[in-house]
Amino acid sequence: AKKIKLGLLGCGTVGTGVLKVLQENYHDIRAKIGNDIEVSKVLVRNLNKKRDFNGDVVLTDNIDDILNDESIDIVVELLGGIHPAREYMLKAMENGKHVVTANKDVLAQFGKDMFDAAEKHDVDFMFEASVAGGIPIITPLKQCLTANKITELIGIVNGTTNYMLTKMTEQGMDYDTALARAQAKGYAEADPTADVAGLDAARKAAILSSIAFNTRVSLEDVKVEGITNITPEDITYAKELGYIIKLLAIAKHTEDGIDVRVHPTFIDKDHPLASVRNVFNAIFIHGNAVGDTMFYGKGAGERPTASAVLADIIDVARDMGKDRFGKIRCTCYEEKQLCPPDK
Ligand code: NAP
Ligand code: HSE
Repeated sequence: AKKIKLGLLGCGTVGTGVLKVLQENYHDIRAKIGNDIEVSKVLVRNLNKKRDFNGDVVLTDNIDDILNDESIDIVVELLGGIHPAREYMLKAMENGKHVVTANKDVLAQFGKDMFDAAEKHDVDFMFEASVAGGIPIITPLKQCLTANKITELIGIVNGTTNYMLTKMTEQGMDYDTALARAQAKGYAEADPTADVAGLDAARKAAILSSIAFNTRVSLEDVKVEGITNITPEDITYAKELGYIIKLLAIAKHTEDGIDVRVHPTFIDKDHPLASVRNVFNAIFIHGNAVGDTMFYGKGAGERPTASAVLADIIDVARDMGKDRFGKIRCTCYEEKQLCPPDK
């Protein structure tokens, strides 16, 4: 049987999570794929940095070691930012490798180029982890809700700012301390300006509304205001009126067109989104057939994000070397020893 080989680009918060969860759940993951799977090489910037992973990995600071390695089947991009992540992903696809990424920057700005490249080179391009960390949201939108005309999508889609607003509201923590804590927990972007200025949420809003409304919404189409101007007085004032401040992404598709925005919003303290605290995210979606649905879970961090990245890796790896039956499969049929006897 073929051993599936991965090239990991990045070994920071998410890359480390992927290595750890793959190691921890290896037996089950291998069974679900039906093949051995291993991380062949990991690209980093600094080969001398201490890594928080107790396993054997081959580190490299030369991208060609991965992109030109013909034995590598899947490139997993976890560098962040547009350059050089975008170029590396395009080259990987050109070289016939499937790509899995958590990169919303590239998706929001160059999504179409990435899909075109995947189609041209007949490879998979997967990005479940790019929005809302561990919450399954891209696949549900692309598959489970695809029969609907979606008219509304409202969400808390940035873990850093939701964590900060929770701490500022519930503990009176000051803005800088709350941000430093979110960074220490691995929630924030390398440059946290993207989080606090609302750009990260805007990128996610662009990705989600493109899929939900089946059109192209790019970052420039999203009106953005972050939380940088929120003062302790705003928070106290909101509380006195029975409200709580949340950074919301709001996307609507009406007869007048599509409107996508991100801004701090006063919401009633009894509203379902008011109970979404700390790093948790939630996304409410209204479809004309399904009605109201809501997705909830951890929106950032090492293990939740690794959960989404690995789901994509498993999905791609499961398809490799087999006839494609479509994207929904049950591996129970293939790995009977894992199923209860009556199944
Ligand atoms: P991170 O902790 O900053 O890690 C980035 C990694 O990439 C580091 O290992 C770094 O190497 C490496 N790297 C960066 N630029 C490089 C370059 N030019 N050449 C070689 N290596 C390079 O970032 P992260 O938090 O894991 O995030 C990774 C991606 O996942 C981003 O797109 C982010 O938006 C996305 N994401 C993050 C989260 C989260 O909770 N953190 C959640 C969802 C999605 P060194 O270690 O040597 O510095
Ligand atoms: N910085 C992002 C956040 C990471 O805080 O939500 C998850 O995309």
